[in-house]
Amino acid sequence: METLYWKDNTLFLLDQTLLPHEIEFYECKTYHEVINAIKTMKVRGAPAIGVSAAYAMALAELAGVDLNKAGDEIKSARPTAINLFWAVDQVLKAVNDGKSAVDTAIMMEKEDIAINKKIGEYGNTVISDGDTILTHCNAGALACAGYGTALGVIRAAHDADKNIDVICDETRPVLQGARLSVFEMQEENIPVRLIVDGAAGHMMQKGEVDKVVIGADRVAKGGVANKIGSLMVALAAKRYDIPFYVAAPISTFDFENEIFDTTIEERNSDEVLKINGGYISRKDTNVENPAFDIVESDLITGIITEEGIKKPL
Ligand code: MRU
Repeated sequence: METLYWKDNTLFLLDQTLLPHEIEFYECKTYHEVINAIKTMKVRGAPAIGVSAAYAMALAELAGVDLNKAGDEIKSARPTAINLFWAVDQVLKAVNDGKSAVDTAIMMEKEDIAINKKIGEYGNTVISDGDTILTHCNAGALACAGYGTALGVIRAAHDADKNIDVICDETRPVLQGARLSVFEMQEENIPVRLIVDGAAGHMMQKGEVDKVVIGADRVAKGGVANKIGSLMVALAAKRYDIPFYVAAPISTFDFENEIFDTTIEERNSDEVLKINGGYISRKDTNVENPAFDIVESDLITGIITEEGIKKPL
């Protein structure tokens, strides 16, 4: 599954707003086009946002734009995933060290896939033959340069011939679970069932879930920020004594701040109010649409990284 590629000084992003029904690449020839793609979630998922941000810096370099100025604009595209900020800073540092932003972005793309495969290897050690794994949102190949973090763990277990099956929460309101995670599993013939978000607790209570594996937008002191709904899944998993793992690269760790200092992105009310272009509630309804929530450290069994399985901060 190709999430993005770089060709002829252009970044091609698989337009995730059209999946799973249409496969179309969005061409970015300017860094502003990449910012737009991140804001509108044509590309989404913390590591994929990070690699796209690095390529945005590459486009800014090619256009002769001041990289500090471009970096500030790129960082303002979305507030929660730390990988966006990390990637811009990595490119600025590399450029200061005399490297090109283009070469740095290409290297970061390759590294991301290698890191995810390592996460998969470590993650596979906690998955048993016969496990049913519940996941929330999409922390798959589509959320990264490839392979995936949480879905990378599932891929690694499947490739190791473990007989596993997957339950995907639909993940209202943008439906990353229903549209993206289910699609990724189906493309690789990994058994998958789709549930509405509200069914996760019920499935756990019935004994249908052996493990939960999700991704992260930020890991910091006190917990993990991830897609809205992750907290409720973690609370239910705790109630039924189900191991709850977070799979994330070290680039998602914020070692400096407390998790409750994270800015939680508030998105457009239409994401909640509309389904398939039609209003499901009165147009003037007051809406809250936080895109992420925080899972506190005591709800997390372990964080699967490319350096091994770590305790939450
Ligand atoms: O709003 P999104 O789709 O960018 O949110 C994505 C998530 O919450 C993912 O779980 C997270 O970024 C980890 S991706 C490996």
